[in-house]
Amino acid sequence: MAQDYVWYQGIPFPIMAYNPEFIKATHETLVLKDEDIITVAYPKSGTHWLVEVLSLIHSKGDPKWIRSAPMFVRSPWIENESRYHFTMEKKEGPPLLTSHLPIQLFPKSFFTSKAKVIYVIRNPKDVLISGYHFWGSTNLAKKPESLQQYFEWFLQGHVPYGSWFDHVRGWMSMREKENVLILSYEQMKKDPRSMIEKICGFLGKALEPGELDLVLENSSFQAMKENKMFNFNNVRVGFVPADLKIIRKGITGDWKNHFTPAQAQAFEETFREKMAGLPPELFPWD
Ligand code: A3P
Repeated sequence: MAQDYVWYQGIPFPIMAYNPEFIKATHETLVLKDEDIITVAYPKSGTHWLVEVLSLIHSKGDPKWIRSAPMFVRSPWIENESRYHFTMEKKEGPPLLTSHLPIQLFPKSFFTSKAKVIYVIRNPKDVLISGYHFWGSTNLAKKPESLQQYFEWFLQGHVPYGSWFDHVRGWMSMREKENVLILSYEQMKKDPRSMIEKICGFLGKALEPGELDLVLENSSFQAMKENKMFNFNNVRVGFVPADLKIIRKGITGDWKNHFTPAQAQAFEETFREKMAGLPPELFPWD
């Protein structure tokens, strides 16, 4: 029988390019440098969008770099084997890295370093719908037979990178740290300019108004959709399946087009139970 997931410490990982030894080494021995900037998110929360923004902040809005190097070269994933390959391939640019790791598996070195983490959260109902379309279209994870089945797996944490609830609760515990910034997909949609300014403030970078306009323009949904470095049909690199589609609808509230009233209610109950004790203002969505 085909393997559904690679498992490490009770967390299911996608099957391609992941292995338990590598994840363990990332956790225990990867040394993050003080100047590193790591985008962290539960999958389907806007990871690629943030990396696009960070890349453009670095280039002051000039799209040359984002149009010539794939996202996973500009900001390599730390927890899978592509890291060695792409970290070596990356010859220019800032020390950007990316991860979907839950906090308990994140490199231990981070907790004594000044490396910066930007953690992106998104309405988990939209994360669920985005993940249903994404994972179901790849050979990277167990394929659901229906949305209802994926819905149940999601609530149980039997989807890539495990439970959304545990992931977010874990990273939220870092929200008061100086070197951690928490952003939401919803705020980025509502007011991307303010979000870019906030990121620049966090990183200690200044952009001229015209440069900020260019960052905005080149990281818009439409610009990313047209960037051949996404939706990998034109970029055949290593482990990346040819049909991987990162850019889909790019909206908030798509769950309303998919959830039944019973699913919406069951989700709310699970959310209330699992996120009990956290201030509601941490979750800026309906
Ligand atoms: P949808 O599937 O809901 O469209 P990740 O990068 O973490 O895998 O997240 C992917 C999700 O972010 C997808 O959501 C994708 O369409 C959305 N996304 C990517 N770039 C975006 C942008 N510039 N604006 C809005 N949404 C974006």
